[in-house]
Amino acid sequence: MERILVTGGAGFLGSHLCERLLAQGHDVLCVDNFFTGTKSNIAHLLMQPRFELLRHDVTFPLYVEVDRIYNLACPASPIHYQFDPVQTTKTSVHGAINMLGLAKRVKAKILQASTSEVYGDPEVHPQPESYWGRVNPVGARSCYDEGKRCAETLFFDYWRQHRLRIKVVRIFNTYGPRMHQNDGRVVSNFIVQALKGNDITIYGDGMQTRCFCYVDDLVEAMVRVMDTADEFTGPINIGNPVEFTMLQLAELVLSLSGSKSKLVFKPLPSDDPRQRQPDISLAEKVIGWSPTIELRQGLERTIRYFEDRIIAS
Ligand SMILES: NC(=O)c1ccc[n+]([C@@H]2O[C@H](COP(=O)([O-])OP(=O)(O)OC[C@H]3O[C@@H](n4cnc5c(N)ncnc54)[C@H](O)[C@@H]3O)[C@@H](O)[C@H]2O)c1
Repeated sequence: MERILVTGGAGFLGSHLCERLLAQGHDVLCVDNFFTGTKSNIAHLLMQPRFELLRHDVTFPLYVEVDRIYNLACPASPIHYQFDPVQTTKTSVHGAINMLGLAKRVKAKILQASTSEVYGDPEVHPQPESYWGRVNPVGARSCYDEGKRCAETLFFDYWRQHRLRIKVVRIFNTYGPRMHQNDGRVVSNFIVQALKGNDITIYGDGMQTRCFCYVDDLVEAMVRVMDTADEFTGPINIGNPVEFTMLQLAELVLSLSGSKSKLVFKPLPSDDPRQRQPDISLAEKVIGWSPTIELRQGLERTIRYFEDRIIAS
């Protein structure tokens, strides 16, 4: 049994991770400033004696005794991270410095939730961890992409300079229950539009592809990466390599939800990559992991979650 800190623990991925760590018998300290996370995401955990919740902003130092840290705090969707871009960079960079400082002080092992956005708009498909990326440093998405890249740099400098035990996980598009309803991400967008009978908005011609990893698969991988031997640092890609076009996704959502919504087409936002696909051979080799939940199955669960939310609201 370990004492585990999850920053951003009241968010979409963080809440599933907290659940999973509690189920494994660990003590979990969830730290969140509730910028995009909500108490309702973790309400079912509050009565568990091994779960603690602390309202705290990771851009400020934190002094707690823990054995492991999962650093997830950071808004993840463009709508949220562009709301206050300076704060987004601060959360990634100052947040990483504060959590790495904490890990150094208490000799904790620390895992960074990085992102496929570090590859920017890539020229290489699928993206292996060795690809350095093609990122615009001055665009509207840069606060997130470059913040996450700088956080990776900090993790590796703490590893080189202070021999900290680090793990860097590059997360590709993940979806599932507790995604935000209105954050502009494609899966939640399509599902909510379909369930409300609104038009389904497709950006561009709908032929750009994305890969979708179900949250349970991702959480399994994160836990396995944390458990790897100290010599393993990553970066390691975690995602589902099966590609779907936006049109295919929209059609699947329509058929699973039984919706009669129509598709409408709008211009592509700037810096939106046409294709992003993880090369997961490292994950297969190091943690024996590959996704197990197919898009249809994951979408069914996610649609059920949104149906309940929409009925309740
Ligand atoms: N969901 C994905 O597809 C995806 C893909 C790549 C990377 N990631 C990364 O995974 C992590 C979690 O993403 P998510 O999808 O759960 O997003 P989310 O917005 O649901 O979760 C982020 C959490 O961090 C909290 N937070 C934000 N700023 C904070 C601060 N300064 N101090 C304390 N807490 C703060 C938010 O309140 C929220 O609970 C993020 O770091 C994100 O960059 C997610």
